[in-house]
Amino acid sequence: MTTTTRTSPRRRHRTLARSTVLTALCAFALGAAADDCDTARGELMFGLCQSCHQADRAEHDRSGPHLVGLFGRPAGSAEGFRYSPAMADADVTWTAETLDAFLASPRQFMPGTTMMMAPMRNDADRAALICWLRDVAGTAEENDQ
Ligand code: HEC
Repeated sequence: MTTTTRTSPRRRHRTLARSTVLTALCAFALGAAADDCDTARGELMFGLCQSCHQADRAEHDRSGPHLVGLFGRPAGSAEGFRYSPAMADADVTWTAETLDAFLASPRQFMPGTTMMMAPMRNDADRAALICWLRDVAGTAEENDQ
């Protein structure tokens, strides 16, 4: 029996490569919103942030701005906090993706930021932290801001 549609091997390869990328992207997008956070690890990782940030009381900044309602919040917008010009003028909205890039390398993602934090190089540590923080800090709407 002969097949009626014949795909050249090159074309098939490209299609396969593309669907692999798509699958990976979907997994990332879903992973960020899914319930299967490694919460213990996420909370532990927030220990790196806690001296400067808290995420459950909007009225309270430490040496860093509060992170309540962070997801969907424009960078540099916590009322009353004195940001660096870099953060205040940044055209960035905090999402799982932008946060991931920022935490992986704060000063590379945002040259001029005054957040003195070493890059978090471990992908799984960042993912756990972001997933945990998404639950704790929530979005501006969820926090009725
Ligand atoms: C040594 C203190 C310090 C530590 C530790 C620290 N931050 Fe920050 N963070 C800051 C400061 C200060 C700013 C404001 C930076 C600016 O204006 O450029 C900031 C800004 C931010 C912002 C932007 C908030 C906004 O309102 O736009 C996010 C998000 C953030 N930090 C998350 C984190 C997370 C998550 C951690 C832990 C992994 C962390 N930070 C660790 C001091 C810190």
